[in-house]
Amino acid sequence: MTARAGHISIKDVTKIFARTDLNATLVALESVSMEIEPTEFVSIVGTSGCGKSTLLRIIAGLETVTFGQAYCDGEPISGTNPKRGLVFQEHSLFPWLSVRDNIAFGLRAAGKFKSLAGLVDKLISLVGLSEFANSYPHQLSGGMRQRVSLARAIAVSPDVLLLDEPLGALDSFTRMNMQDELLKLWHEHKNTMILITHDVDEAIYLSQRIYIMSPRPGRIAGEIPLRMSYPRNRSSSEFVNVRNEILRKLDFAKEEQVEYNL
Ligand SMILES: Nc1ncnc2c1ncn2[C@@H]1O[C@H](COP(=O)(O)OP(=O)(O)O)[C@@H](O)[C@H]1O
Ligand SMILES: [Mg+2]
Repeated sequence: MTARAGHISIKDVTKIFARTDLNATLVALESVSMEIEPTEFVSIVGTSGCGKSTLLRIIAGLETVTFGQAYCDGEPISGTNPKRGLVFQEHSLFPWLSVRDNIAFGLRAAGKFKSLAGLVDKLISLVGLSEFANSYPHQLSGGMRQRVSLARAIAVSPDVLLLDEPLGALDSFTRMNMQDELLKLWHEHKNTMILITHDVDEAIYLSQRIYIMSPRPGRIAGEIPLRMSYPRNRSSSEFVNVRNEILRKLDFAKEEQVEYNL
């Protein structure tokens, strides 16, 4: 039996940005290590600027490390790979393509024409957009557009889905619906999910494990395993206790330090 794909290993990663405009360097990540198992749903929370996006971009292969190494299934990550899909907060749909064609885009690009029609229809229905299959992005609400982005990312069956605050721009109702869509996609596809969010409740509602990051320099300040079954009840005492624990840790992780080493 072959092992499932989608294992991410971050070993002692440090990322230093050179700020030539300030003649300074910025340590965005310092000695960050994490192990994420295939099919695991992990969230990363932390204040703005603590290096979350930089870390995700390193896993995506869009950013290089200064020290250390990031691995996917035992291979050092160098460059992007369709095995690792990325969804941002900003919508990145093609305005001139319909919902159906936006979702099919990645499959066509990957040369997967055979399974295309059936799979695209299945995804459209999974994200609840069957009635909008032939609509264009400008005819959709923000939540619907983000559902198309998710369906498009998942269409190529990435082993790892990297989500950088994908629901950040949505109102709280749409956001909660989308959280359920995400869980549905994850149950259906059993891929590894790495979600960045500044919404602690969202992280608790969705994840099996949460990493807490602290800023300046970006470090892992804590790790919380969650053993609650799905779907989770946001007002259960277990949920509330975990929320308090994370908020305490985040506050602790907020200690002031100088950002730039001039
Ligand atoms: N390309 C870059 N060049 C210089 N500094 C950068 C670059 N990308 C990010 N940074 C800096 O690195 C730090 C971490 O950024 P980021 O990873 O975007 O944090 P987060 O996603 O947690 O808000 C910030 O101080 C940011 O200004
Ligand atoms: Mg960010």
